[in-house]
Amino acid sequence: MQQDRVYLGDCRAVLETFPAASIDLIFTSPPYADNRRKSPYTGVGIDAYVEWFLPISNELRRVLKPDGSFVLNIKERAIHGERQTYVLELILRMKQQGWRWTEEYIWHKKNCYPGKWPNRFRDAWERCLHFTKEKRFKMFQDAVMVPMGNWREKRLSKLSDEDLVRHESNVSSGLGRKVSNWVGRRLAYPTNVLYLSTECSNRNHGATFPKALPTWFIHLFTRKGDLVLDPFMGSGTTAIACIKTNRHFIGIEVTPQYYEVACQAIEREKAKVLTTNLHSSAGCAK
Ligand SMILES: C[S@@+](CC[C@H](N)C(=O)[O-])C[C@H]1O[C@@H](n2cnc3c(N)ncnc32)[C@H](O)[C@@H]1O
Repeated sequence: MQQDRVYLGDCRAVLETFPAASIDLIFTSPPYADNRRKSPYTGVGIDAYVEWFLPISNELRRVLKPDGSFVLNIKERAIHGERQTYVLELILRMKQQGWRWTEEYIWHKKNCYPGKWPNRFRDAWERCLHFTKEKRFKMFQDAVMVPMGNWREKRLSKLSDEDLVRHESNVSSGLGRKVSNWVGRRLAYPTNVLYLSTECSNRNHGATFPKALPTWFIHLFTRKGDLVLDPFMGSGTTAIACIKTNRHFIGIEVTPQYYEVACQAIEREKAKVLTTNLHSSAGCAK
């Protein structure tokens, strides 16, 4: 297995050649379930989706380190006015495979344009399902902290007696809160909803996610130098996010046209980094 490269091929077969427990984070967005088969790559039908994905998720589980994470960006389609259930079925089957369904993050597409449908509204969010092998896994929450914003001034300026004591959860979850703990702090932990715009221009691929999406999870679940895998690499977005954050990557892409797009994007990004480093080392040498 070679780091920092994209493999051309079906990820199921390519993954079998990778060593066990070698990857820190898997971040990916598989092809949409699609019975129309209009896309350049063969779409997987809705009825066959779960059975198609399970051998791949089995391989992903094998190559992931015990303390690693697998984040699956996916959204079930609505067909004939009804949401399909294959993602829910997939979660249940992956749990049977031995995965822990640790969390569900939501990517809210904040730049969605409006539309009109007879029985629903614009679909403006996608799931980022977080699976792990173990209960304890690497997570660097401080790396994704966000400014407290207005809440800080409004809520923390006048603390009541109630705010000074710890409140246990009403549902006996064992989790509690003490509002006064946040006084004097500028940063807070984010929620599990990410508000990110889509980025589709100039990517030569019709189903890209924005760089900010893998970047956020890369910061949350890896350290510099760790290895990130995207088995459905598409235009190379995850690889670019890795280069920008000093992580190693491996990508797999089955469609030659997209493989080329990814390789070119990666070369451009590497060249940018080289130029930046040259400029900064030139500065240091003075
Ligand atoms: C939703 S797109 C991923 C887009 C990517 N996240 C990006 O930002 O460009 C899914 C990609 O998976 C590729 N693909 C489909 N089946 C595959 C397989 N069995 N192995 C590897 N890649 C596959 C498709 O060609 C497509 O480029």
